[in-house]
Amino acid sequence: MTSVAQTLADGTALLHDSSASPRADALLLLAHAMRREREWIVAYGDATPSREEVQAFERLSTQRSEGVPVAYLLGSAGFFGREFLVNESVLVPRPETEHLVAAAIAFIGKRPLDVVDVGTGSGAIACTIAAETRATVCGTDTSSAAVAIANENARRFGVTDRCRFCVGDLTEAVSAQRFDLVVANLPYVPTAEIPSKPDPVAFEPREALDGGSDGLTLYRRLFNTLASLLNANALILLEAAPPTMPGLSAIVRSALPHSAIAVCRDYAGLERYLRISTGATDA
Ligand SMILES: C[S@@+](CC[C@H](N)C(=O)[O-])C[C@H]1O[C@@H](n2cnc3c(N)ncnc32)[C@H](O)[C@@H]1O
Repeated sequence: MTSVAQTLADGTALLHDSSASPRADALLLLAHAMRREREWIVAYGDATPSREEVQAFERLSTQRSEGVPVAYLLGSAGFFGREFLVNESVLVPRPETEHLVAAAIAFIGKRPLDVVDVGTGSGAIACTIAAETRATVCGTDTSSAAVAIANENARRFGVTDRCRFCVGDLTEAVSAQRFDLVVANLPYVPTAEIPSKPDPVAFEPREALDGGSDGLTLYRRLFNTLASLLNANALILLEAAPPTMPGLSAIVRSALPHSAIAVCRDYAGLERYLRISTGATDA
């Protein structure tokens, strides 16, 4: 039988042309197949995996070589220090969204505020805010499969008492409530720019990606009704594609002419989200 190190090398070679990070992907998949930590795989290269472990690894590596995102193969993705359950029904939470969450947490501080997360997907934003603060969070999504995963994540992180999820279009399911903070990472990829397989993004739900012809269709609709849901001095945090920031700012200015809008950058230094203060106390 082959060694752990050789199995890893074989997997890395298989992924060479299809992945930007072949060794890192192979390492994660081999650790998953062997139910070990990555560090163990690196430290015990001379160990011998079982036939079943090698076969499981080969199946996962083949799927990865066809483009399937690592997170779907592992069934989880790291976000803001927690491991969220994910499957093909939800967008894989992205590191850039952590910035938006950090801004939300800073705004909330120790206050027991009411928060809505529009387009919650895996619940990564909603569950993190509930876990890190005393806020009560409501997540909405048109996908009942996504809401099922978000509920599982809320249970996983022990936040079901302050985090609930509703199926519905935008804020329709919460229209009777008022919020101090609105966060949204709605689909924002312009339709013509949605990639095709084997790009890993193409394996994610189209409903989580497609932002219409200019990437702003959902945000335009959101602002038709948002003003009536806001408490005094509310904050709105919206993630979108860097090139769409001027267009999104114009939508916000038209709907909330007295708000203060700041464009904020992600880890890569790209303009990634808008911070919209609706009150005088948080300009
Ligand atoms: C880009 S994903 C973001 C998921 C998650 N918030 C995150 O940051 O990882 C957008 C989510 O919005 C949902 N969505 C799409 N259209 C929607 C609508 N009209 N109302 C509510 N949610 C919608 C999708 O199903 C998807 O889960």
